[in-house]
Amino acid sequence: MREDLLFFAQVLAGRRLHPPSVRHGPTLCRTRCDLRLGGAGRTARPGERAVRRRERRRRPALAESGPHRPLRRRRSVSPGARERREDRTDMAGTDTTTYAMGNTSGEAVRLDVQDALYAGCTEYLLRAAGLREGMRVLDVGCGTGGVSLAAARIVGPGGQVVGVDMNPEVLKVARRNAAAADIRNVSFEHHVLPDVELPEPVDALVGRLILMHLADPAAVVKELTGLVRPGGLVTFQEINISRARAVPDVPLVTRCREWICAGQREAGSDPDMGERLPHVLRSAGLAAPAVAVAVPTGGAVSTAMTLVAETVRSLLPLIERSGVADGQDVDVETLRGRLSDACAEVRATLYLSELVAAWGRLD
Ligand SMILES: C[S@@+](CC[C@H](N)C(=O)[O-])C[C@H]1O[C@@H](n2cnc3c(N)ncnc32)[C@H](O)[C@@H]1O
Repeated sequence: MREDLLFFAQVLAGRRLHPPSVRHGPTLCRTRCDLRLGGAGRTARPGERAVRRRERRRRPALAESGPHRPLRRRRSVSPGARERREDRTDMAGTDTTTYAMGNTSGEAVRLDVQDALYAGCTEYLLRAAGLREGMRVLDVGCGTGGVSLAAARIVGPGGQVVGVDMNPEVLKVARRNAAAADIRNVSFEHHVLPDVELPEPVDALVGRLILMHLADPAAVVKELTGLVRPGGLVTFQEINISRARAVPDVPLVTRCREWICAGQREAGSDPDMGERLPHVLRSAGLAAPAVAVAVPTGGAVSTAMTLVAETVRSLLPLIERSGVADGQDVDVETLRGRLSDACAEVRATLYLSELVAAWGRLD
């Protein structure tokens, strides 16, 4: 699977991809937690979160390397956080916060396929951002754990990683993936962003393909930086779906890209959050984020075709609702085969959505 993962990376450290004014994606969001940031449900008292942040910052900074105590599960939850969490939980105890791609087992499989394609890029970009041995890391919106496991490999046995996600199903898969890979310095917890509490500040906050789903990503990142020690690393990785293409051109690939972008927008997600990432991090308080881009590629007989077809499948109800295509146009059961045939016919190379990383250090 990895042999068709040719990736090239263009490190633009210190440079901005675009000035903040160039592009602003939709600011919709379906995650109730984000709506709550604006005050729905139980409203935080003015300054309450800031106080929690300041209190964390007053704790002694952790060294970046050397053996650390494992990150323990949070012992207590503040009454406000518990209340907010209960607000978002239906009678079956399942989070009702929405996520564009759903929370089915099919989505967990799709996330694993996606990670197989992006793992090399992600590890490269995490290292470029400054993730190092011995660090304690928080991975937010961890899904099936691809980024958490990459981070756990980098930080090694002297470091620790905790992955958090709002979907209990993907967390089960993440734990299975960690056990299968025999990676022990990682744990997974259920939290709905931005309500994460840890016993101690971490050295690094990371996340991949999470900010695109949030209504106010800068506010969430800012809130989460309260969990990072002063001088700690903040790095996120987001994609630009509009840049995905086949070379030479394959009309079916272009159509799939348009369907996926429409489905994401219909859900209130930003398909090109990668472009906004430096701006988001600046708005969250990181002075001059560095930026790098990596792109996984694939040929006609490759996992890349599976990822495109499965992403269309996950988004199909939203694609139909957006009006760009209906089930017959998409014909999802035959989509992967048709994509492979069309790419084979012109010997196309598929360039998947580019993965943008941005990072900076807290003051
Ligand atoms: C596209 S997946 C990315 C998963 C993983 N970071 C990766 O790159 O493989 C986005 C993940 O974010 C989670 N998520 C979305 N909104 C969230 C929120 N408000 N709180 C916690 N998790 C959230 C979803 O459940 C999903 O697992």
